[in-house]
This record gives sequence, structure tokens and C-alpha cells, in this order.
Amino acid sequence: MRHRPRIALIATGGTIAGTAAAATDITGYTAGSLDATQLLAAVPQLGEQADIRAEQAFNLDSKDIAPGHWLRLAHRVQTLRDDPTIDGIVITHGTDTLEETAWFLHLVLHGDKPVVMTAAMRPATALSADGPMNLWEAVQVACCPAFHGPGVLIAVGGEVFDAADFAKCHTIRPAAFCAPLGGPLGLASPPVRLRGGPMAPAAVLARGALEHIDTLPWVEVLHIGAGADPRLLDLLREAGVAGVVLALPGNGSLPDAWLPAVARAADAAVRLVRASRVLHGPVTARAQPGPLTAAGFRSALQARIVLMLALATGDDGLLATCAPAPG
Ligand code: SIN
Repeated sequence: MRHRPRIALIATGGTIAGTAAAATDITGYTAGSLDATQLLAAVPQLGEQADIRAEQAFNLDSKDIAPGHWLRLAHRVQTLRDDPTIDGIVITHGTDTLEETAWFLHLVLHGDKPVVMTAAMRPATALSADGPMNLWEAVQVACCPAFHGPGVLIAVGGEVFDAADFAKCHTIRPAAFCAPLGGPLGLASPPVRLRGGPMAPAAVLARGALEHIDTLPWVEVLHIGAGADPRLLDLLREAGVAGVVLALPGNGSLPDAWLPAVARAADAAVRLVRASRVLHGPVTARAQPGPLTAAGFRSALQARIVLMLALATGDDGLLATCAPAPG
């Protein structure tokens, strides 16, 4: 970039915009209390780095973000990515469902301009709030050519993650994030790529396909504990669910007691994916009784979003995004 980088900041809420009554309170606070302008005002140094245009998409605790918000956000980010007067996009978000919004955007957005999400574990009013530094770092990453490419990135806690390999792994501590597959992509401050090579291709939807999606089909994840009752699947089927991702023990191992309910779901054209409740490792495509697609290297939450998009577009080929694992 020869001119000062022109960055669009989109705020969506979260703890990074949260406030508490006391500076020592890092659990009892209201997420999504500050707006985009206030977040920006907390980091005046950003004005020396980039021209930043701030806007508010919505202001929510991310537990309340739903697929409709992903669609709205994706349309807006795609518009900004296509805007020749914008060089990069930074999105602030709550940490609780950050991995889902990031993965959705990763799958649907086209273009090469950086899209960097960030968040915070401590509210803006806390002693040592992490939000301002995370926002600073996210803008540094968005301005760093080494990170330019098609995918969506997350800059949190001094590290940069690829949306395809990112999860929240701790409920409270500031270093709450991990990359279960291969580790972080780089460091945020100064921005450095630790893993080289071109940024992985991201979008699985054809350009323009998003325009035709108004809502995403109903897909749920069932987390299967030992002895879990298969009537859960029947209840979902009877209620009209379009797809179910089963977060199963081990390598996506379906308990025998679930076979009849799985068969009934398949007969009713409910799409089923075999994922794992284990944090690390793939679900292999080994033969399994019943009509279940293996989630491969995708987590149950990621597979749910892939299945939503496959059902929304009628394109089963999207399930190949659940890269088949050998074995
Ligand atoms: C949220 O996800 O909006 C609240 C929690 C957080 O941001 O850490």
C-alpha cells in the first residue's frame, strides 16, 4: 500500500465492548456496551497507523449471534472487500462464538484483502483490559502484506490464527484460544508469519451465491455422552430439522443404540454428519453403518456451518470442505 492503509472497522459487540461496575470484575459485566467509536477512541495510536472508518453492525453478546447475523455481516464485509477505497477490514466480536462467525465468513467471502477479527477476554473497564491491544494488533495484521490473502484471520492474545484452525479453549483465562490442527499462523505484534506459503483458498461458495441465501437451514449439533438417549435425534427429526451433526466419542464412533434413530432420520432426508467430541484430530472416513458423512478435519461446529451452506445451496459438493481424512 503506497497510501496510509484505509481500514474499515466493524464492531459487533462482545466483551471487547463490555463494561463492568468495578475494574476488578472480569466475569460480571455486560458485553456489547460500548460502540465502535468508543472502541476506537481507546486506541488513539491507531490514528497514526491507518485511516479507520468505524461502523456498528450490531452490538451483541456473541452467545446471541445467530446465522441471520452471519449473513448480514458477510454481505457487509463483502461490500467493503469489493470497495476500492478500503484496504482491509477489522471486525470486533465476542469470543464465545467467534470461531463460528469467523469460519462462516471464511467459507463465503471472496477477495484477497485482509479480513481480521479480534475480541477480548476482559471487559473494557478491567484492569489490564486486553481489548485495546488486541484491536491495535488486529489493525497491524490487516496492514501487513504477509497476511494478505483470501482467508479470514483472527488476531487475539498476541497470536494470529486462521479461521479454519481456531477454537476457544478456555472459559476465563486471557490466553483462551488455540489452533487444534496446526498451531497459530503467526504473531500479531510485530506481525510475523510463523507458517509460510500462500494463504489457503477459503471461499467454497461461488461468487455471488451468497446473494441468493436469505436464511440458513436448521442444523443442530448433538453432543453425545456415554449412554445418550437416541430419542434426541427422533425429536429433532419430528420437529423438522434439516441436518444434524453428531459430536460422537473418539473417531466419530456411533453407539449401536443410535442406529435405528439414524436410519429413521436418513429415511426422512435429514442430513447427518459424523464429527467428534474430541478437540484434536480428524474423523476418518472408515466404513460406518448408516448414512453419515465424516467431518474429516472439521470440528462439529465447523461441520454444522458447512452442512448449513450445503443444504442452503443444494450443493452436496460443499461437504468436501470436510476434508476426508485417511483411514
Ligand atoms: C461474548 O462472546 O460476547 C462474551 C464473551 C467474550 O467476548 O469473551
